[in-house]
Amino acid sequence: MLSFLAPAADAAAAHGPVNPWVALAYLVAGVFFILALRGLSSPATSRAGNRNGMIGMAIAVVTTLVTHDIANIVEIGIAIFLGGIIGVTIARRVAMTAMPELVAAFHSLVGLAAVLVGLAAWLNPGAFGITDATGQILVASRVELGLGIAIGAITFSGSVIAFLKLSGKMSGSPILLPMRHVINLGTLLAIIGLVVAYAMSGAGGAGEGMLVVWITLAAFIIGFLLIIPIGGADMPVVVSMLNSYSGWAAAAMGFTLGNTAMIITGALVGSSGAILSYIMCRAMNRSFISVIAGGFGADDSGGAGGELREQRPYKQGSAADAAYMLEQAEKVIIIPGYGMAVAQAQHALREMADLLEERGVEVKYAIHPVAGRMPGHMNVLLAEASVEYDKVFELEDINSEFAQADVAFIIGANDVVNPAAKTDKSSPIYGMPVFDVDKAKQVFFIKRSMGGVGYAGVDNDVFYMDQTMMLLSDAKKMVEEIVKALD
Ligand code: TAP
Repeated sequence: MLSFLAPAADAAAAHGPVNPWVALAYLVAGVFFILALRGLSSPATSRAGNRNGMIGMAIAVVTTLVTHDIANIVEIGIAIFLGGIIGVTIARRVAMTAMPELVAAFHSLVGLAAVLVGLAAWLNPGAFGITDATGQILVASRVELGLGIAIGAITFSGSVIAFLKLSGKMSGSPILLPMRHVINLGTLLAIIGLVVAYAMSGAGGAGEGMLVVWITLAAFIIGFLLIIPIGGADMPVVVSMLNSYSGWAAAAMGFTLGNTAMIITGALVGSSGAILSYIMCRAMNRSFISVIAGGFGADDSGGAGGELREQRPYKQGSAADAAYMLEQAEKVIIIPGYGMAVAQAQHALREMADLLEERGVEVKYAIHPVAGRMPGHMNVLLAEASVEYDKVFELEDINSEFAQADVAFIIGANDVVNPAAKTDKSSPIYGMPVFDVDKAKQVFFIKRSMGGVGYAGVDNDVFYMDQTMMLLSDAKKMVEEIVKALD
């Protein structure tokens, strides 16, 4: 009874004793992965972090290849080569603004790989060393297999939906099915029940096979159900949550394959993704449980997105007007957003800030945790333009300073400065902390037209405030013109 509570013995039986050199090499790879995460926590050390991640992965891959009984090294070499070429080509071509959807697409592949490894192990358990003396799959391995396939399938279908939403191939608005929480809970309980039934079932037999098929199907369905109700402003959290799921899927497969490096890497990705999701939920003032439960608490009215916008008066200015007023200012706070990334205006912006500082103006940059389309998007762009890190501030550190600022200079941001997040309960961004730009003496708002909206698709009262001057143009062009006027 309860023999699955003895996984250590099962695991040893499943994969045999571990060669101490292999264990050491995987441990070293694990240390490099931890250093990679450490490095990636700050823009200043992120390149070194990336390098450490690559070294760790190289050690793990080479160790696996040289210490395993590889059936056909040539085939594996060709697969690595082709995969490498595809990866390098995509990485070189992808625009920074398309990174979130690319990441979602890659997560779907991790999920699919976990499902395929699980199904392969189920179909040919002997090859994976997960059978007992009678040729039956060990109970612990059944649990790992069931969980690995389930998490992998959720990651796959959830990531496909996230990819479609982020790339605009599917509406970003929440799709709210009636009784969705009951359906989600029921499906989740069904998956848990199926995994338990599979772990307890006798080997062989058509019934056992059907359990694995049902686990896979139910998990595909719940991945889909969990992501469709998540709309606009909550997508950043979903991307990092799917990142976490992909880690857990890889860790579960690491158990099936008896590969320590995969377990370590999967657990690191899973836990760091979960922590990031939690931090982002706090930054967005969202409940973590609500988001992972599939848009729990989302407003069934659908919010204000997509509503017809009334015509309201606004003031429009030119680059020369902006340059004149910026020169007179003592303190300017720049709020970059997605539009700066689209226009690639960061270098011109840095030039503008340099010219202002030469004239004695204090310039600071205010970064919202979800500005742009991926975590750290704005920090990366500003670092690329060599903006000093000590001039870049997080929302909670700078928000109180808008009251003393002469100019809030909004460049390509929109949702992150929208006061509807504070005042309009029907808004899809309600509850998200935003910059108090309305407290600044003047607000300059760069965007291409009055018709364009931010990611959440809602109008912004800041456009129409008395102290706001709309600078309607491509961000890079407008800032270059301001630089010319300042010169
Ligand atoms: P958004 O609210 O998306 O606003 C972007 C603004 O840039 C729009 O006003 C747009 O207006 C303008 N724009 C676009 N191209 C431009 C160009 N070439 N030149 C000048 N302006 C341009 O951006 P945000 O304030 O950074 O907010 C981010 C939003 O994305 C949030 O809702 C967030 O939840 C969501 N999101 C974030 C992430 C992460 S992880 N950061 C991931 C997915 C979604 P025009 O079209 O009129 O120019």
